[in-house]
Amino acid sequence: MTTPEWVIAIDGPAASGKSTVGEAVARALGFLYVDTGAMYRAVTQAALARGIPASDEAAMVALTRRLDIAIRRDEVGDGRQYTVLVDGEDVTWALRSPAVDAHVSQVSAYPEVRAILVREQQRIAAAGRVVMVGRDIGTVVLPTAPLKVYLDASAAERARRRYRELLARGQSADYEAILAGIRARDAVDSRRAASPLQPAADAVILDTDGKSIEQVVACVLDLARQRFGMESDSSWPSSS
Ligand code: DC
Repeated sequence: MTTPEWVIAIDGPAASGKSTVGEAVARALGFLYVDTGAMYRAVTQAALARGIPASDEAAMVALTRRLDIAIRRDEVGDGRQYTVLVDGEDVTWALRSPAVDAHVSQVSAYPEVRAILVREQQRIAAAGRVVMVGRDIGTVVLPTAPLKVYLDASAAERARRRYRELLARGQSADYEAILAGIRARDAVDSRRAASPLQPAADAVILDTDGKSIEQVVACVLDLARQRFGMESDSSWPSSS
């Protein structure tokens, strides 16, 4: 049976660990994991690929309307959490390019782009059993979610995590540049007029500085257990 109220909203700033935590929590519960940032990134990447300037708001809205964005659970074995198809083309890794990083905050500040993507996110969540991750999930997309978590961490801690992640993947990394990028994105995401990044009034705020991913995941699972009235891991709802 579908239980739409079984939804977990996870919000937080760039590199706060939302995706890793969200995916691990969803996996433990057998819920669907939806990273809404990928949708804003998909629109941005499509604009770059088609030569549409991210500064052209009307063109960005028109593009968002006509794009077919599909997020699929895939086991490709190249480290991806999911596959993103835009009009049938696999753009999963292109979404992480520095060019997309540089323009996505601007694109996600357009109210009409947000309205289109929020409707789609609400449609996906309507079936329930979802962990949805983003910036405005608890405040705008799923305001009645029974569990809202806001993951926070200092900019320095988040930059350190991103830096280590890149080195672990064998890529070169410049800590100061990463820190500056995170601060710039925080500023745009939290100051924009449309759905600025902020915790919902009823969100549980978790400060993750100095905590491992495992500790944060355990904490969110405990909260879910309390909120959904589950006794232990063995009593998690099955996905039947
Ligand atoms: O989480 P991320 O870094 O992939 O997000 C990319 C951008 O999209 C970031 O600038 C914030 C924006 N975003 C948003 O405005 N609302 C969401 N629900 C998710 C992401």
